[in-house]
Amino acid sequence: ATLAAGLAGAQTYPSKPINIVVPFAAGGPTDRVARDLAEAMRKPLGDVAIIIDNVAGAGSSIGTSKVAKAAPDGYTLLLNHIAMATMPALLRTMPFKVESDFEYLGMINDVPMTLVGRPSLPAQNYKELSAWLNQNKGKINLGNAGIGSASHLCGLLFQNAVQIDMTTVPYKGTAPAMTDLMGGQIDLMCDQTTNTTQQIEAKKVIAYGVTTAKPLTTPALKSLPTLQDVGLKGFEVTIWHGLYAPKGTPADVQAKIHAALKVALKDPEFIKKQEALGAVIITDKRVDAAEHKKFVAAEIAKWTPIIKAAGVYAD
Ligand code: MLT
Repeated sequence: ATLAAGLAGAQTYPSKPINIVVPFAAGGPTDRVARDLAEAMRKPLGDVAIIIDNVAGAGSSIGTSKVAKAAPDGYTLLLNHIAMATMPALLRTMPFKVESDFEYLGMINDVPMTLVGRPSLPAQNYKELSAWLNQNKGKINLGNAGIGSASHLCGLLFQNAVQIDMTTVPYKGTAPAMTDLMGGQIDLMCDQTTNTTQQIEAKKVIAYGVTTAKPLTTPALKSLPTLQDVGLKGFEVTIWHGLYAPKGTPADVQAKIHAALKVALKDPEFIKKQEALGAVIITDKRVDAAEHKKFVAAEIAKWTPIIKAAGVYAD
């Protein structure tokens, strides 16, 4: 009976609103990608309501756990980023297995990061910031979205590159962190361009550089140097986002969601919104489950030694 119900459910899927769990606070870069994507997936999924469920905390593991334990019926999905590859090194007790407790529904985009400072910081470019950092050792506050977040990982790379320890101030996401940065409560943050581009354009924060190997083409960001070019060797990180379902979600439900994702990634509105904020839509085969899963496994292998060397834990 359950098999028949399962099969019947799959044929009528979706017949009720779909929840996408975002493991960070509303208004931040992860939430931004989720809301833009949900808007572009609604029609291809048959005009269904898609609800964003922000479940923050513990380096995204609280929201991710919620999805790992959810009914595998296609009505609870997860949109998460590089944290899927860093949690295995950051959590002493893993509440789920990244590689076997999820169905991989495809990757969405790659998002560069920027190093930004409070508007009152007496440094207008990286050279001046470097001098300021050395004059203020022991007094520097670096905002992030908690250990395990992309902003935390980027902050680790930054502190390693400049060889200066900073006080990290964790928030439930980089939206509230950005509010404090603009207000001058914290000095610096490394955050995704989807959350910093508009603030840089509005001169509400000072931008010092980007974390990509090459300068960006986004109008508001193209004049920024790469942090590698200003001397921060090895400081390169790009944040990628993917879509996941609980293990055991019926194959044809997965196929419907994956098909809608592929339509969304070609939606001109979605592409325009994302590219205006510096994001790059995935157009290679990482949009398919097998390559998505392989990529995450490779990223786990890449980041684990870097994080272990830093000796930090999210639990
Ligand atoms: C992060 O730093 O991991 C994310 O930018 C947090 C967020 O989406 O708010």
